[in-house]
Amino acid sequence: MFTNRVLSGMRPTGSLHLGHYHGVLKNWVMLQHEYECFYFVADWHALTTHYDTPEIIEQNVWDMVIDWLAAGVDPAQSTLFIQSRVPEHAELHLLLSMITPLGWLERVPTYKDQQEKLSEKDLSTYGFLGYPLLQSADILIYRANRVPVGEDQVPHIEFTREIARRFNHVFGREPGFEAKAEAAVKKLGARRAKAYRQLRTKYLEQGDGAALAAARALLEETHNLTLGDRDRLFGYIEGGGKVILTEPLALLTEASKMPGLDGQKMSKSYNNTISLREDADSVAKKIRTMPTDPARVKRSDPGDPEKCPVWQLHLVYSDEQKQHWVQHGCRSAGIGCLECKQPVIDAVLAEQKPMHERAEQYLEDPTLVRSIVADGCEKARKLAQETLRDVREVMGLNYS
Ligand code: TRP
Ligand code: SF4
Repeated sequence: MFTNRVLSGMRPTGSLHLGHYHGVLKNWVMLQHEYECFYFVADWHALTTHYDTPEIIEQNVWDMVIDWLAAGVDPAQSTLFIQSRVPEHAELHLLLSMITPLGWLERVPTYKDQQEKLSEKDLSTYGFLGYPLLQSADILIYRANRVPVGEDQVPHIEFTREIARRFNHVFGREPGFEAKAEAAVKKLGARRAKAYRQLRTKYLEQGDGAALAAARALLEETHNLTLGDRDRLFGYIEGGGKVILTEPLALLTEASKMPGLDGQKMSKSYNNTISLREDADSVAKKIRTMPTDPARVKRSDPGDPEKCPVWQLHLVYSDEQKQHWVQHGCRSAGIGCLECKQPVIDAVLAEQKPMHERAEQYLEDPTLVRSIVADGCEKARKLAQETLRDVREVMGLNYS
């Protein structure tokens, strides 16, 4: 049976905050009702940039899994695991590296971007260059076809599709397939055969989707083919033969619009976050001390919500009626800022309450999380081993 399998990973490089919840985790929770989901801690990926601070990774792995569980990721529905505990990812990474052109890696936009952004680190390493290929191995080893990611990661999914295509092209041919396909091409007639070959090359070498569509259209219009030849020629456009690795699709996660305490996007680097399981007093204090419209010096000064980061939070947390109350009360100096902040405090605390409740048992008994992850790793490994068996076989490594 064909199942849609979702896979996504997160690097354990810091603690999670409400921005992660609204941007990523809520989406993960939603997906688990619809798909078979695999979520993993990308600790090797964290090492590509944090190789000099391994303690950060160690500290964050278990906390991060507890955050996932707190957010509502359900271990009965989703498989949770740690990348480095499924060493098959590394073997597939190595095997894929044999057919990965260096230029493809160098051209992935995140490569240069991140090197520039994190210029205090030396990222001219073999591991960092291979970051997208390791990610491809993560995805392809589960034959996952849906990968929820943010916009910044879309090039990595595109790259993964190209790697899968190239792999299938190089290793997926069945005995005699090529000769049969070539014979079928000749039956197209000289003019069509030439067009078919050009489109096929364009698609295989450049991943040109328009060329794929045009080649298919050409076959649709050709009526003198046997069914067998038709199927062969359709397969042959895409490399032909067996599909060993499945091309995944990105499930684009809308960028989190979650504002931080200062009105900028909530982010660790702006130091404006509320962590996922922050305690209630600290949440209240952070919101109470948030800056407001600087025009409201005295309680009697009217303000403008558009100039106030608290309003941004009302947009996330308050209904229309409450928003109206803010707009009117602020502009008329009818309400004070502390009064205005209270419903936001209440809403954040209400959102976090079930998270604290879900986290409680895991904090009390750390062996619970260990065993959820151990089960997840075992399940992931079985699948990974199946894919790897097929990969080894077509790469000529199954000799005795
Ligand atoms: N690179 C991803 C990020 O920084 C994390 C990641 C690693 C990932 N492997 C993956 C995401 C596989 C999706 C699928 O967000
Ligand atoms: Fe901001 Fe509310 Fe104060 Fe207006 S009343 S400045 S919206 S906190």
